[in-house]
Amino acid sequence: MRMYDLIIKKRNGEALLRDEIDFMVQGYTKGTIPDYQMAAMLMAVYFQGMNEDETLYLTESMEHSGDTLDLSMIQGIKVDKHSTGGVGDKTSLALTPMVAACGIRVAKMSGRGLGHTGGTIDKLESFPGFSTSLSSAQFQKNVNEIGIAIIGQTADLAPADKKLYALRDVTATVDNMSLIASSIMSKKLASGADAIVLDVKTGSGAFMKKEEDSFALAREMTKIGNNAGRKTYAVVSDMDQPLGFAVGNALEVKEALDTLNGKGPADFMELCMTLGSYMLIAGGRAKTVEEARKMLIDSVNSGRALRKFAEFIRAQGGSDAAVYDPAFLPQARHEEDILSETEGYISHIECDEIGMCSLILGGGRETKESAIDLSVGLVLRKKVGDYVKKGDVLARMYGNDTEKMAQAKERFLRAYRFCAEKVEKSPLIKGVIIP
Ligand code: URA
Repeated sequence: MRMYDLIIKKRNGEALLRDEIDFMVQGYTKGTIPDYQMAAMLMAVYFQGMNEDETLYLTESMEHSGDTLDLSMIQGIKVDKHSTGGVGDKTSLALTPMVAACGIRVAKMSGRGLGHTGGTIDKLESFPGFSTSLSSAQFQKNVNEIGIAIIGQTADLAPADKKLYALRDVTATVDNMSLIASSIMSKKLASGADAIVLDVKTGSGAFMKKEEDSFALAREMTKIGNNAGRKTYAVVSDMDQPLGFAVGNALEVKEALDTLNGKGPADFMELCMTLGSYMLIAGGRAKTVEEARKMLIDSVNSGRALRKFAEFIRAQGGSDAAVYDPAFLPQARHEEDILSETEGYISHIECDEIGMCSLILGGGRETKESAIDLSVGLVLRKKVGDYVKKGDVLARMYGNDTEKMAQAKERFLRAYRFCAEKVEKSPLIKGVIIP
């Protein structure tokens, strides 16, 4: 087999076979196929597309290009949840203990934040001593005994995707639906869960800005998951403004804890209920969404979800003091209210700009190597549809550097748009794709 012939085949619009895709993916990972040939192939795929079978073959080949997580010692159905990423997205922190308290087993690999969106692993490091690298045996033991374990992504998970993503990034071939879907799903499949619930974000703070693109990605990923034998659901949810009110690592942890105490923001709780319901259904714990919601609400009202979270933090070496008293979370030295300079209804919030404000304060990474300040960020007071007068507090900002705070404040004020007429709030859940 020659890569040259495969490039011609794809360039001419023909479908590639499983062994041809495997030849190119494994060859590229090992270095026997050079960047220039793979770059030509990616551009051919970009213009000619891939059909459902090709997309599945590509995903499975990338899945098997490195380590896959061994979950064989875990009893029962393992359910994973994945978000395409957004601003203020602290969902895994509150959702995993809720579903674990309802009997679901969650064995999860999570990422660190890069750019304007945060990562679950960074947020969990707000608990002193918390370890995100466990041995395979310890990881599986924790899932069996507690119902949750969350670790950082290992370097050798789907290495083909890592190499291909870097090449796509510099050859203008990132935004192809088959390539995006296979990239995300290869890592999910390698993480070993039996069922997957995807949270595909849409809007100004999301990777996919347009709703139709988010639905197309959701459909593509659910097809891959189901064709690979994993029951896969997708919820398309709003990211046209931050989720909840808190943006910034420790601030988001506090909001997740408030939610586990039954005092969280309504939109965030609604997202947890929706994703959690499908996790319970996928894991065979509930038959209907109504039944699942009741179970999830009971896990919160009874305090079981909060206790489950504390148990999970302790089992990974963390101090659970902050679970019961957020004063133990990292605290910023300075606080400042950002006041509205305009009167009117808030018509729009440029969501990724709010993420950028948190990044400017030190709460995000500009490059993979940057260190982050867990204590900084913003807590919004006003969101789309709210009416504000001049001088009303739009948000409270938390920082450790007054110069950065001044920069963030200026940017924050530019992210809000106002109008004179009442504004309809757009629904949080745009739709659900069920297998
Ligand atoms: N996230 C990924 O992991 N891969 C893509 O291609 C796009 C977003």
